[in-house]
Amino acid sequence: MNTLSLPANPATAPIPLPPQFTRLVLTGFMGAGKSTVGRLLADHLGWTFLDLDTLVEDLAGLSIPEIFRTLGEAALRRLESRALVRALRQPHTVLALGGGAPETLTNRLLLEQTSGIAVIFLDAAFPILFDRCLLQALNPAATPRPNLVDPASAEARFLLRRPLYRRLAHHIVDTSALASAAIVPLIVDLLLTQQRNLPQQPKISSPLHPTSR
Ligand code: S3P
Repeated sequence: MNTLSLPANPATAPIPLPPQFTRLVLTGFMGAGKSTVGRLLADHLGWTFLDLDTLVEDLAGLSIPEIFRTLGEAALRRLESRALVRALRQPHTVLALGGGAPETLTNRLLLEQTSGIAVIFLDAAFPILFDRCLLQALNPAATPRPNLVDPASAEARFLLRRPLYRRLAHHIVDTSALASAAIVPLIVDLLLTQQRNLPQQPKISSPLHPTSR
């Protein structure tokens, strides 16, 4: 297990990542903080931030709720794969996936087979994620999440997806008790530790709870 201590001043002085990392991908369930952390991480590194949901909306010319309503979830998943192919062409990007993207085998294969990627799973227990989403929904600017309307089926999806998130991840961060800004230096440190450990197998670990793929 990697033992981590946070850099003294995480808010300043971006630490250059080892050159083998050209794309960082954040995965996890709705409410995990993928977009918020992704934006902060991209700012910190001076990279571009991409949000898969936004790319899907641009492709479809529809919002995510409109896609659900008019085209259905299967169409959303196909759009996600098209958007993912485009996103993964761009180096020096931090990409926040939609929570359901890893359900699609094509997406998992794309993520596994594209070089230069580190996938980071932002984990938390379902009740924490659900509460965060409820709080976010209070913001009138927030995009509604159709797959969260029924709490029981949302939890069933969470249980189904969690092993997929874990399998895909090079690193897992337990975000339960962490503010978004605190997660950024943690991720950078995990990647630097992974680099130090090469040419051994990349460490699949969490700073807060050891885990295996
Ligand atoms: C979904 C998650 C959403 C969005 C869509 C479906 C899901 O993305 O893609 O509402 O099925 O988990 P976020 O995880 O960014 O909320």
